Amino acid sequence: MTTRDSFSSQFGVLVAVAGSAVGLGNFWRFPYMVGTYGGAAFILVYLLFVALLLPIMYSEFVIGRRSQSNAYGAFKALAPGTQWKGIGTLSVVASFAILSFYCVVGGWTIEYIVQAVTGKFSANSASLEQTFENFTTSSFRPILWHLLFVGSCSVIVVAGIKNGIEKYTKVLMPVLLLMIIFLAIRSLFLPGASKGVAFLFNPDFSKITGESLLAAMGQAFFSLSLGMGCIVTYASYVKKEDNIMKLGLGSGMADLGFALLASLAIMPAVFAFGISPAEGPGLVFIILPRIFSQLPFGSLFASVFFVSLFIAAVTSGISLIEVITAYATEELKLSRKSSVIITFVIVAIFGSLSSLSQGVLKDFTLFGKGFFDMFDYLSSNILLPLGGLLIVIFTGWVLKKGVVKDELSSGGRYNVPIFGVIMFVIKYIAPIAITLIFLSSLGLLKIF
Ligand code: TRP
Repeated sequence: MTTRDSFSSQFGVLVAVAGSAVGLGNFWRFPYMVGTYGGAAFILVYLLFVALLLPIMYSEFVIGRRSQSNAYGAFKALAPGTQWKGIGTLSVVASFAILSFYCVVGGWTIEYIVQAVTGKFSANSASLEQTFENFTTSSFRPILWHLLFVGSCSVIVVAGIKNGIEKYTKVLMPVLLLMIIFLAIRSLFLPGASKGVAFLFNPDFSKITGESLLAAMGQAFFSLSLGMGCIVTYASYVKKEDNIMKLGLGSGMADLGFALLASLAIMPAVFAFGISPAEGPGLVFIILPRIFSQLPFGSLFASVFFVSLFIAAVTSGISLIEVITAYATEELKLSRKSSVIITFVIVAIFGSLSSLSQGVLKDFTLFGKGFFDMFDYLSSNILLPLGGLLIVIFTGWVLKKGVVKDELSSGGRYNVPIFGVIMFVIKYIAPIAITLIFLSSLGLLKIF
């Protein structure tokens, strides 16, 4: 048997995990959620959830690196003969569910790159809305772009960890950082930008509601790539001497930093042009093109932005595909290439259905939702919190405390400064908080 692939350096792990976390969740979902749920107050609640979920990030690192195995094999190795490996099955299902709508939006970014580069954006917001609507509801183009998106991710994953994922994210992540900083600066210097800054940093606590709490928790799970073995899988390629406490904190902070930078790039511009921040999911695709079209060199800025969005989405898409690939190669003994091809075919089918559900298949619903919304709802509101809950229970109650400490300290190489606090959150706070919010999201409990 050949030795298992691994990341070549600690920096490689950091950019790969940050690359997984930073994605459409930061650039597309976070800004519109901040806009919808009232700005600074939402950001504050979000910060609390990031702090709460960081111990889940550590748990996934512990499980992955300890077992050196895919999301299914990891639980099989750490708790032999038990049903905990079901978390692995859940992870594979969640990967497919997320990929089935994520890659469709990834495809949209390609359409918008094409439109930006060819200077198609007009200053008329009605027609931009129409453009978005016409494009997303049409049948052929969105599916074509979606396939191109899944294809781009697949090519990188086939190449492996060191020569694929690490090699590309190492270049793409710093490029992405430069691009978003550049856009944030451009946006901050627009006349009237300060109202947007105030919206982001002056909290109005009356805006915190039960609903915004739920939204913030779901967003934190989604954005940090937690709850479905994604970090377990990446962590399984991390060397024994790498400092996973530092890596967990570093990637969590990178994710948060990108979300804040994305809001700084978007909100000041939204306010400078007198647009409502509560525009919803269309914020990026409808509002930004309008803003860009009114700026000097707008099509250059628009191209930069949508290329950034595409890059961010690809480095996340590959992490979702890797969860399935690692499972298929190690548990089902398929070759890496066949695993990726099979994944491609399945995602192509589900993704096409989810893309068509925006248009011709609009009336075809399951549990009252079209395919796109169903995959989105199923993953963020059910599979991720459920997976996250099981992962912390496993780490806190099934794994021995010594094992957790040994991993977090990388075999005693590093200090684990607040180990007691981390364990307390893993054992009690996180499971209780997730259960309460989970139940209330299913309508089984009313918190507010
Ligand atoms: N975190 C990514 C984003 O914000 C999406 C993502 C990648 C993800 N891997 C995941 C979400 C695993 C949940 C679970 O775009």
